Amino acid sequence: MENKMLIQQAIKAREFAYTPYSHFKVGAALLSKNGKVYLGCNIENAGYTPSNCAERTAFFKAVSEGVTEFEKIAIVAGKEEIETYTAPCGVCRQVMMEFCKPEEFKVIMAKSPEDYKEMTLAELLPLGFGPDDLA
Ligand code: THU
Repeated sequence: MENKMLIQQAIKAREFAYTPYSHFKVGAALLSKNGKVYLGCNIENAGYTPSNCAERTAFFKAVSEGVTEFEKIAIVAGKEEIETYTAPCGVCRQVMMEFCKPEEFKVIMAKSPEDYKEMTLAELLPLGFGPDDLA
């Protein structure tokens, strides 16, 4: 699937962001190797700590349905409009590390379907600790 189409889906996913505290709305679209796309938004909580990022929502939806192999993820974020490229937080990078090959998995940080930055997980999480380290 083209990056443009994946970003369009992340933009749709962002509409469901539940953000009464930060008002920072994030949407993610995760493409699995079987071609299916899993959408996620951030979901905040009055207790703050239980809040979940858009990226992890997408990953956990997929993994909870038996899908564990992924190609790329598109991320969009912003309070009102999507104004900046937003990179995944450290916790989300670590979750990606669990299921993705760091040199191959692509993270697309987008301002619009046409305007985005693309980096591999290895670039975003150098020397990442993952399942291979426990093998
Ligand atoms: N957030 C995400 O969902 N993904 C990111 O990549 C960065 C941060 C969320 C968490 C919280 O709901 C809000 O954005 C502000 O940190």
